[in-house]
Amino acid sequence: EKEKTLAGRKVVITAGGTVERIDPVRYITNDSSGKMGFALARAASRLGAEVTLIAAKTDVPPPPDLKVVRVQSAADMYEAVLGEWADCDILIKAAAVADYRPAERAETKIKKAGERMTLELVKTIDILETLGRSKTTQFLIGFAAETGNAEEYAKDKLARKNCDLIVANDVAEPGAGFGVDTNRVSVYDRNGLVESLPLMSKDDAAERILDIAARRAAGALL
Ligand code: PMT
Repeated sequence: EKEKTLAGRKVVITAGGTVERIDPVRYITNDSSGKMGFALARAASRLGAEVTLIAAKTDVPPPPDLKVVRVQSAADMYEAVLGEWADCDILIKAAAVADYRPAERAETKIKKAGERMTLELVKTIDILETLGRSKTTQFLIGFAAETGNAEEYAKDKLARKNCDLIVANDVAEPGAGFGVDTNRVSVYDRNGLVESLPLMSKDDAAERILDIAARRAAGALL
């Protein structure tokens, strides 16, 4: 039985891949399965936190005892997160959020026509960056999914998005990142590397990440 280091804390976690609609039957998404985010939600719950899981596309069954808010797009996810933000103690953004969405969403199914078609995309809101700007007492944890140069890009994201911690995973590495049940993560703060963890189950990685967060947030929230 774990010590309830997050008792009385509200922890909000985002999981899964956002879905950006092209028309009623087509969409743009990514390979996120939601496993990492759901593992974090279960681990936070074991540590005694009051957990809200904001889930985009995922096949993982929702844990029966957790509050789960279902969303589709990056815009939906932003709204859902904003609704939980004011009294949130720790926010963890494990979701893979689309960086671009179709500029227009067709009301009816787009018909096949010429040999080529062009789909215009526009930037989505960067949820983490927006929250990082309005952060007061919240402890903000971002993820960085990279394919090479993970450390450099993760540190850059941490600074740009004003996170307290960033969890880097090299998603090109076998057994790490999207879809699988395992991950190899490194956790950074403003001063650099906090901990580089070996390959382990997403459940174990989640617990290690939350142990770090619980220790730090306890200090920050006093
Ligand atoms: O779901 P799984 O199959 O278990 O896979 C886990 C995972 C690989 C998806 C996960 O470990 C992970 O790395 N999640 C973050 C994926 C991602 O979008 O990374 P990024 O480097 O593109 O974004 C950096 C951070 O900004 C992330 O915390 C992301 O949630 C956030 N972001 C990104 C874009 C955007 N428009 N808004 C955001 O908030």
